[in-house]
Amino acid sequence: MNPLRVIVLMHEDLVPPDSLEGYSETEILEWKTEFDVLHTLREIGHDAQPVGVSDDLGKIRRAIVEMKPHLAFNLLEEFHGIPVYDSHVVSYLILAQQKYTGCNPRGLMLAHDKALSKQILTYHRVPNPKFVVFSRGQRAKRPARLDFPLFVKSATEDASLGLSRASIVRNDEQLLERVRIIHETVKTDALCEQYIEGRELYVGVMGNQRLQTFPIWELEFRENPDGVPLIATRKAKWDPDFQKKYGVMTDAAKDLPADLTSKIVRMCKRVYRVLNLSGYARIDLRLTDDGRIFVLEANPNPNLSFGEDFAESAEAAGVGYEELLNRICSLGLRYESSL
Ligand SMILES: Nc1ncnc2c1ncn2[C@@H]1O[C@H](COP(=O)(O)OP(=O)(O)O)[C@@H](O)[C@H]1O
Ligand SMILES: [Mg+2]
Repeated sequence: MNPLRVIVLMHEDLVPPDSLEGYSETEILEWKTEFDVLHTLREIGHDAQPVGVSDDLGKIRRAIVEMKPHLAFNLLEEFHGIPVYDSHVVSYLILAQQKYTGCNPRGLMLAHDKALSKQILTYHRVPNPKFVVFSRGQRAKRPARLDFPLFVKSATEDASLGLSRASIVRNDEQLLERVRIIHETVKTDALCEQYIEGRELYVGVMGNQRLQTFPIWELEFRENPDGVPLIATRKAKWDPDFQKKYGVMTDAAKDLPADLTSKIVRMCKRVYRVLNLSGYARIDLRLTDDGRIFVLEANPNPNLSFGEDFAESAEAAGVGYEELLNRICSLGLRYESSL
């Protein structure tokens, strides 16, 4: 690939230093993705410049005018602190006629609205847990079609905000309380789903029209003395102490029969298509003991840190980190909106 001028859009608090030296593990974790992407793009030979953004579109505008980048590498996950605004920033890039990496605005908007994406998945017969949404200000009353245990989460926030083992509710009282917590602390509508006991699988998907999937990945708690439920909470994702104690591991899923594997792969590509995703994404699923698959959610623009699930599963498919970033860049350059 020819060297490109790239602006790497990232939260202004996450603009990384030039070197890791002198920073603690926890500090590095904060901006590791930004560091890995920026420095690897440079190592490949691209002229990559960070642009820190939190609530000022002018910064993006100025970077576009001054640098005339071939591409904006989009690592933004929010604007004004609001995750669902990320699609609007990409719309702004489109209005500025700027090519960008990752997902288009419609895909971002659909995937971030968990209830709407579940309605679309259901229409396309993609199995996903039965659900009800309780809007803010609405009292949680369980519909008769939903049995306990249920799982209560935010309808729009991601990164496991508001999740803990108490998110699994087993009676109406717990349901009421957990919905109240989502409304009052996460400050979003609450999505209440059938709790699916089972293995937790992730599938990386990449492409615009022609899609490639990476090997199925699995989250495991390999040591679990006090029997905590297998849930990807913030602690499981980010807390090194919790990870050590419970042996939190993600790795290639083992012992999946070939027909089940190909069914999962087909399903994930379908999810990607019906939610109008582009660039790259990770689909989260659950597999029950009796072999039923449920799609939990689609994550456009998933975490791209070196060594994290998406890059690891790409690596397992023979796509190393530099190659992965180059492919993401060329998908961004080639993406043509059908809208
Ligand atoms: N219906 C469900 N049944 C079982 N576990 C669930 C369910 N929904 C979510 N989870 C657990 O919570 C985690 C986070 O939920 P998810 O919908 O993926 O939101 P986030 O956007 O925070 O990743 C999942 O990875 C899974 O471990
Ligand atoms: Mg998830």
